[in-house]
Amino acid sequence: IDISKLRGLTSGITTLDPGFKNTSSCKSAVTFLDGEKGILRYRGYSIEELADKSDFLEVIYLLIFGDLPTKKEKQQFHRDIQTKSLVDEDVKKILDGFPKSAHPMGVLSALTSALTAFNPKSVDVRSEKDMYNAICKILGKFPVLVAWAYRKEEGLPLAYGDNSLGYVENFIKMMFELPNEKFVMNPVVLDAIDKLLILHADHEQNCSTSTVRVVGSSHAGLFASISSGISALWGPLHGGANQAVIEMLEDIKADGGDYKKYIAKAKDKNDPFRLMGFGHRVYKNFDPRANIIKVAAEEVLNDLGIDDPVLDIARGLAQVALSDEYFKSRNLYPNVDFYSGIIYRALGIPVPMFTAMFALGRLPGWIAQWKEMRLNKEPISRPRQLYIGATERAYVGIDKR
Ligand code: ACO
Repeated sequence: IDISKLRGLTSGITTLDPGFKNTSSCKSAVTFLDGEKGILRYRGYSIEELADKSDFLEVIYLLIFGDLPTKKEKQQFHRDIQTKSLVDEDVKKILDGFPKSAHPMGVLSALTSALTAFNPKSVDVRSEKDMYNAICKILGKFPVLVAWAYRKEEGLPLAYGDNSLGYVENFIKMMFELPNEKFVMNPVVLDAIDKLLILHADHEQNCSTSTVRVVGSSHAGLFASISSGISALWGPLHGGANQAVIEMLEDIKADGGDYKKYIAKAKDKNDPFRLMGFGHRVYKNFDPRANIIKVAAEEVLNDLGIDDPVLDIARGLAQVALSDEYFKSRNLYPNVDFYSGIIYRALGIPVPMFTAMFALGRLPGWIAQWKEMRLNKEPISRPRQLYIGATERAYVGIDKR
């Protein structure tokens, strides 16, 4: 039901929908999602086909501009991103100010917001050209910031990009290149990261994307809106779940590996513990991304020759939970984050960086949704409330309270 035109006819009448479980906040042509059937499509293309045949740069273009690019369009877009990828040297001073223990998501959110100070024209987007430039800038600079956040955490000197490489290849080199060592790209790693980024690229009006749209609806700039999205993604009920999953699996391992005990804890309504990586607000049968990532995780572990006991615990947990009445009756299935952390871990990415990797993947989705919101000239987001506090109270001076 579209109630957006009812204002004026419904004086005093509002809907109450905590968590927006049944509220559409906008009309969107970016991502199609059918939670009952487990379908996810970007601009009409199935996620399975894109993960198999496409690459992340193409998917970025598809999400933001609506169609898959021709070879020429893709090259030009890549060049435009590359020419805008340099991050101001002064941003490094801000990075230096953070303690080594700072969580990469906090660092990323702060640095992305700081970019507005160095790119003031990106704040006030007046034309399609301004918009295109702001989009290319954030696409160019954000992977640099993610790589810097990682290198800071690892105590490595900051690395610079290499314009002879593809978008994802360049990012991987900026992350993993070691001083005084020739960098060699591992195709297994490249393929796995590219797939993961594609699978995370958009997911309609999830918490962080809604945040980007809400913040952007006040005409705050693209970078500020993305910075807010990063903060929203950080939480363990959203993107932070990939970190929480590995931490949970490690806890189970340290506790002797008895995962059935943790299934019982998750079912106990007096225990706040939840099985991280299980359940989803909209997928009520299976998460199609989880199916693809599960296979990719097995491939990566085989190719890299890694025998990870944490994966055995994950397999056992998934198997038992999937046949358990509590999980079945509530439609709780492993979600994308249940398996993505296992891949990141196999690739040697430290746990606090997992959600930052998710943010890099989600960046094109945030941009596409922000662009759509601005081009649709959507009104400022301003929900109402159901006030349940005191309606009127007489003020009592402090000495009489
Ligand atoms: N473990 C145990 N029980 C759970 C879990 C879980 N992971 N998830 C939901 N439940 C139970 C709830 O306790 C509730 O039970 P009840 O009906 O007896 O009260 C029922 O299932 C429904 O749960 P809600 O919290 O109402 O579902 P909602 O749609 O609001 O939440 C969410 C979805 C946040 C993903 C939830 O399933 C959860 O917390 N999962 C764990 C965190 C996680 O993996 N998040 C990643 C999401 S995917 C992503 O962001 C990419």
